[in-house]
Amino acid sequence: MPDVRVLPCTLALFGALGDLALRKLIPALYQLDREGLLHADTRILGLAREEGDTAAHLPAIEKRLRLAVPAREWDDAVWARFRERLGYLSMDFLDPQSYPTLRDALPGGLPVVAYFATPASVYGGICENLAAIGVAERTRVVLEKPIGHDLASSREVNDAVARFFPENRIYRIDHYLGKETVQNLIALRFANSLFETQWNQNHISHVEITVAEKVGIEGRWGYFDQAGQLRDMVQNHLLQLLCLIAMDPPSDLSADSIRDEKVKVLRALEPIPPEQLATRVVRGQYTAGFIDGKAVPGYLEEEHANRRSGAETFVSLRVDIRNWRWSGVPFYLRTGKRMPQKLSQIVIHFKEPPHYIFAPEQRSLISNRLIIRLQPDEGISLQVMTKDQGLGKGMQLRTGPLQLSFSETFQAARVPDAYERLLLEVMQGNQYLFVRKDEVEFAWKWCDHLIAGWERLGEAPKPYPAGTWGPQAAVALIARDGKDWYGDH
Ligand code: BG6
Repeated sequence: MPDVRVLPCTLALFGALGDLALRKLIPALYQLDREGLLHADTRILGLAREEGDTAAHLPAIEKRLRLAVPAREWDDAVWARFRERLGYLSMDFLDPQSYPTLRDALPGGLPVVAYFATPASVYGGICENLAAIGVAERTRVVLEKPIGHDLASSREVNDAVARFFPENRIYRIDHYLGKETVQNLIALRFANSLFETQWNQNHISHVEITVAEKVGIEGRWGYFDQAGQLRDMVQNHLLQLLCLIAMDPPSDLSADSIRDEKVKVLRALEPIPPEQLATRVVRGQYTAGFIDGKAVPGYLEEEHANRRSGAETFVSLRVDIRNWRWSGVPFYLRTGKRMPQKLSQIVIHFKEPPHYIFAPEQRSLISNRLIIRLQPDEGISLQVMTKDQGLGKGMQLRTGPLQLSFSETFQAARVPDAYERLLLEVMQGNQYLFVRKDEVEFAWKWCDHLIAGWERLGEAPKPYPAGTWGPQAAVALIARDGKDWYGDH
């Protein structure tokens, strides 16, 4: 039995037949139902432009769901219950005339969760139409990324929504915040005094955040080419991870306490000066190469590609935070498509002991590292120095991990998908895993400054073959400070 008291709602899913809904949201809702985390009265109303009623769309939804749910997690009884919750309504999101039918389909009295799995350009219009049918007061709206393309356009989207909804009913998704290990970061930092006392420039030498993907553009060329990796991944996911690592302890677990601390970090990010762009930032673009031994095309050869595109599919950068805690501690970020493996991890490198007493040739071994693996193989490991075992070994040192592997520790438990957690929290009305307006805006402000610098520089991204860790310049970026990326071989 779940520990949380689940609350009922009607989930109005705008864009219900789109890729995000079919690949992520509906499977996540099925899993919540399987775990007993959907209230008996909760209904899911799919909304999209395609003609047809519930019966017409159900077979296709079931087909996609069966593809998304591993066979061992498929349960006919759960599906029978889940399908009863599903409804479908064909509508034009921007046509006010479609909305009275929607209002009639929403059971009176229950809260509504309006999930916008649509382009941000229609968020404002949907909000206005929801307000016009008188359901805004009982509705929470969920906004998918990307929210805008820069600070100005993100403000436009946020303002259009804010005309009808107060901030405490707006849930901006950054799905990285729903990942199990990302939430564990909060537990690790603030439930263990051991780390908190070390968590500053006195003890930490530098921090690495890597979010690498094996996939390429996967048919999303049109969107991605306008964005590039900085807007697609750094502005949101990587900066959110950086905030969780760098923020001060919040006074409690409430959404605003946590978000206030994150905003302080974003405000303290040092804008990268134009004259340092060449040494502190590397943009890359993949060329043809091999992933798992299979030949894959380069970015410019992907379907629908503009052969002269200058969009980056890789970015690595050194970020500095201007405050007491982090002064002098570089944060190295890197993220790319078509890398050798899917890997998201944060490595905290601690400083060397102040006085060294072991053999000089072993000195390079010395330094504790805390490795937080977000995916795959979620877990946390602390690299500590010990003495090698054996009489003949003298005081030879070795590095060994103190390890917490989530899959081994919680053997029976499946690692839930990020969207399961996020949907559950929004249905419960908890905002702490969602991004506040000012966070989005400070993150854009910092990225806009960087992008403006790139545009002035006008340099093409550096090529790297698919299946490698990015351009050589990314190695040089960190090597210049006498360091290297952890675990690249
Ligand atoms: C999305 C980006 O936000 O995150 C995609 O738009 C990226 O380009 C995806 O592939 C990565 O998410 P995950 O959960 O697979 O690491």
